[in-house]
Amino acid sequence: MYTNKVKKKDRAAEIIRENQKRFRCPICSGDMTIKGFYSLVCGSNHSFDISRKGYLNMLTSPCNIVYPKELFEARHKVCEEGFYDQLIDKIINTIEKYKKSQEDKKELTILDAGCGEGSHLYRMSQRIKKDLKYNLFGVDISKEGINIASNNSSDVIWTVADLTRLPFQNRSFDVVLNILSPANYLEFDRILNGEGIIIKVVPGQLYLQELRQAIYKNKKYSNDKVVDYFTSKLEVVHVENISYKFSIDDELLPILIKMTPLTWGRMLKEGTI
Ligand SMILES: C[S@@+](CC[C@H](N)C(=O)[O-])C[C@H]1O[C@@H](n2cnc3c(N)ncnc32)[C@H](O)[C@@H]1O
Ligand SMILES: [Zn+2]
Repeated sequence: MYTNKVKKKDRAAEIIRENQKRFRCPICSGDMTIKGFYSLVCGSNHSFDISRKGYLNMLTSPCNIVYPKELFEARHKVCEEGFYDQLIDKIINTIEKYKKSQEDKKELTILDAGCGEGSHLYRMSQRIKKDLKYNLFGVDISKEGINIASNNSSDVIWTVADLTRLPFQNRSFDVVLNILSPANYLEFDRILNGEGIIIKVVPGQLYLQELRQAIYKNKKYSNDKVVDYFTSKLEVVHVENISYKFSIDDELLPILIKMTPLTWGRMLKEGTI
């Protein structure tokens, strides 16, 4: 067990070293390098250690956006059952198309901003064509989320950080994924290279409609404001709607209920959790 964790930390240190030029100190914005095997350090000596499980914590102030650990665990289970697989396939297709338009690229650097417990990026990394080198980064403000994400045995650099102040250099990414999470388009624009793209996933009107119906009865749900804001800030290249049904058995139902902030808000209010 211990040996396994040490190996994980070593592998994480190796891929962080390969990508160290992409990091930027979240305190002074200085360049960063790996020092003494397991610390990422800037010229002013601000130092961030790689944890035993192989993730970095680069949060500079305490976070008050707290999703409970149980929500991330439930999300992880639901993802493992394949609930989001069709969405992941769509994202992979989009990345493949982008790749074709960037023929000279030898590697692709992707950030999942607000990755939660990391399943989407992990499952993508398992399915995407490995015809070039991928540098994969998952960032979330929640340590609980990143802690679960780092259980995955993939070569992803998992980092606890605030997406409104990303610890990365300007123009160091090709793709930013932003799946069902808050965004900061100024930051995304800063870290993307000139031809980079943002893939933003927002829930449509029918997302989890059975659950919404059960909890909120007939209350209408719309994400128009989020989409309008996105459209006002960025050049929209392509929009795709995705809609599918997924059967939930009795075992998965209580887990599905626990995996969404929608129900946590309601249950907390009613004192049922
Ligand atoms: C609904 S969850 C979605 C997580 C994941 N993308 C998924 O689809 O399973 C929203 C995520 O955004 C993260 N988040 C919220 N504010 C953030 C911020 N300022 N910086 C980084 N992550 C943030 C939360 O911690 C949470 O993991
Ligand atoms: Zn610094």
